Amino acid sequence: MKIEFNKPSLPTSGVLTVVVVSKDVDGLIAELDNKMSGQLQTIVGREEFDFRKGSVVTIPYPQGTGLTKLHLIAADQEKLKDHYEQESLGAKIYSTFGLEQDEKAAVYLPALSDPKSSGVVASGLLLKSWSFPKYFTKKKKTDFCQIQHVSILTETPAEAAEKFKELEQVAEGVFLTRHVVSEPPNVIYPETLAAEAKKLEALGVKVEVMGEQELAKLGFNALLGVGQGSAKESKLVVMQWQGDSAEAQPIAFVGKGVTFDTGGISIKPSQDMDDMKWDMGGAGAVLGVMRALAGRKAKVNAVGVMGLVENMPDGNAQRPGDVVKSLSGQTIEILNTDAEGRLVLADALWYTQDRFKPAYMVNLATLTGAIIISLGTEHAGLFSNDDELATMLADCGKTVGEKLWRFPLTEAYDKEIDSVIADVKNLGNGRNAGSIAAAQFLQRFVNGTKWAHLDIAGTAWDKKAKSLHQSGATAFGVRLLNYWVKKHIERSAS
Ligand code: BES
Ligand code: MN
Ligand code: ZN
Repeated sequence: MKIEFNKPSLPTSGVLTVVVVSKDVDGLIAELDNKMSGQLQTIVGREEFDFRKGSVVTIPYPQGTGLTKLHLIAADQEKLKDHYEQESLGAKIYSTFGLEQDEKAAVYLPALSDPKSSGVVASGLLLKSWSFPKYFTKKKKTDFCQIQHVSILTETPAEAAEKFKELEQVAEGVFLTRHVVSEPPNVIYPETLAAEAKKLEALGVKVEVMGEQELAKLGFNALLGVGQGSAKESKLVVMQWQGDSAEAQPIAFVGKGVTFDTGGISIKPSQDMDDMKWDMGGAGAVLGVMRALAGRKAKVNAVGVMGLVENMPDGNAQRPGDVVKSLSGQTIEILNTDAEGRLVLADALWYTQDRFKPAYMVNLATLTGAIIISLGTEHAGLFSNDDELATMLADCGKTVGEKLWRFPLTEAYDKEIDSVIADVKNLGNGRNAGSIAAAQFLQRFVNGTKWAHLDIAGTAWDKKAKSLHQSGATAFGVRLLNYWVKKHIERSAS
């Protein structure tokens, strides 16, 4: 999708979407209304054309205009001061397009208080346009929306284009995440996901990929134990973006990348097991954030680490009852091989803090089914050992519409993961507070680093289309963490 910004002038062909914020038609809308003998004024003037509700009216082949379709969207000027509302409006504009067969569309946006707003609206449109048609071989052109070029008509095209340039890079990060999360598990596995990361070298990201031999030498036994029942080689990927001076302390993102989670010997029921292809959603989000930061040349030093394994049950698979010595030196009793994400993260988190000494470490993981029971798909679970970090992240989440809800971490919960044979076990007691038990487990491997864990099991994938995404991979976390970096971490933050 190509988006450009131009001063308003009335198109005489193709698809036009007009955003209307007032019952008084003027400017370009009045010009269009003249051609339509006042029909527009009639529609806009009616009570059911409701700005608060965001009414949409579509007129095919409006007489006297040359257009193939005219979409009118009522929008509330007050609400549109908000970043997420601006992006949502963009997404709504894309949704009006339907199965348009024209390749070009124009979108008229009335002046909003911030001249950059049109760029934000455009980014919402772009985010909504992403889909994954790759594996359809029989669908026809008419089964898809054909619009490839959008001209945004705005009074402030230069300011809008500048803002969009930045947000377009964030969208590229989102798309990369959605892409790798959507790919089937026979296509994306540790080696191929690592190869996707390697591609970021073209943007100036330093990328290291470690295989099983190297990881064994270093002592990544918790991570390797999860992958030992798989024919695919486990990998650890380390990405480094240096946008600040070499001495500046980095921040770090760590992702759970289980490219398929059968549960291992503690095997999952077959119902919905295919969902476990997106058990690498945390790693996918880390990849996308790194893509976004490098793409927009963020003035920050950022490290992205992905722990990549496939959790399979074969003759060599890890058993319930096994004890492994993690990279940190702590021993772990494995009581359920399906609680594997925390084992992968244990080593990945320890390694990251030990090697990079980050100012903050944030991990993302589709970690527990229990978080879906708690929060559904509306919020991701937030766990942190640092109140300031937790507040920053929760606030940023509200701004970009990737909402977080904080859960407690306490000594009493921590006690529940003490093992009778080793330092720690990979389960809590029974089914209670499963998401917290998992987070307490992770906390034992952060060595006091300021850290937050986002449990995105309920938000990485959405069976339903929502504001900024179609059904499927959401890339939850990419926009949130990019915005957190921009607002709180970047040098000369604004
Ligand atoms: N990947 C799953 C969690 C998950 C479930 C993500 C559903 C997305 C949708 C994780 O590895 C897992 O299996 N967790 C277990 C932990 C349990 C064995 C303590 C769970 O949630 O049942
Ligand atoms: Mn599992
Ligand atoms: Zn898992």
